[in-house]
Amino acid sequence: MLDAGKAVNGLFVNPMRSVKQTFLFWETREASVNSMYLNSMGESLDEEERREIIGYLPDLKGKKILDLGSGIGRFTRFFASQAGYLTTVDMASHFVDKNRKDHADFKNVTFLCSDAMELSMEEDSLDFVFLNWLFMYLEDSEIEVLMDRIQRWLKPEGELFFRESCSATRQMSNDPTYYVHYRELSYYDEIVKKRFALLKEGHIQAHVDAFANPLQCFWYCKNPGFV
Ligand SMILES: C[S@@+](CC[C@H](N)C(=O)[O-])C[C@H]1O[C@@H](n2cnc3c(N)ncnc32)[C@H](O)[C@@H]1O
Repeated sequence: MLDAGKAVNGLFVNPMRSVKQTFLFWETREASVNSMYLNSMGESLDEEERREIIGYLPDLKGKKILDLGSGIGRFTRFFASQAGYLTTVDMASHFVDKNRKDHADFKNVTFLCSDAMELSMEEDSLDFVFLNWLFMYLEDSEIEVLMDRIQRWLKPEGELFFRESCSATRQMSNDPTYYVHYRELSYYDEIVKKRFALLKEGHIQAHVDAFANPLQCFWYCKNPGFV
């Protein structure tokens, strides 16, 4: 946590506004695969990890999809090739620019630069919402609000997949410029249980194989009543 009134990159940051700190962090990362992982192993892990995650997803042919916190768009080509329509959202404009440039061949994608908490979508309009490492940058209260919104944006039979870096006990980064929450699996189990029917949860095997890390976890769920 930042001390009250700490300056980051010469700017005053209110510790209550984590989104500002998160923005300051990501806007100084280069628009690359390694930046998405915050790890120099990112390039070598990317293909295998993406293949694994895509393997957990439902049939998305013709679906309306939202990728929230999409970064440089590691999943854009796959989603756009399947979707009827894809919206990608990220707060860092240079990531959005790269995503747009790398996927200019697709006409069924809207690339938005926005704080996820400022996003508004039509109710009952989406088939599938995807978040790969976003909740960990939000406060608990923001997650509650966003989960409620996602449920409203999804069609009654819509589905949500999210993946987060977790921890056995709740922790935050030691780096004062990097605002991130590593939460327990049980926290995410609870927020899912409150609103959705869980279809599957598990860890990302690519991270177990590469780093012996079973705490890269995913949840795949469905609006209830249609299971
Ligand atoms: C670890 S990267 C993951 C990017 C992408 N999902 C992927 O798997 O490659 C986290 C991303 O979340 C974005 N982000 C963090 N907080 C956000 C917020 N409140 N609204 C929108 N984007 C946010 C960052 O800009 C960054 O691109």
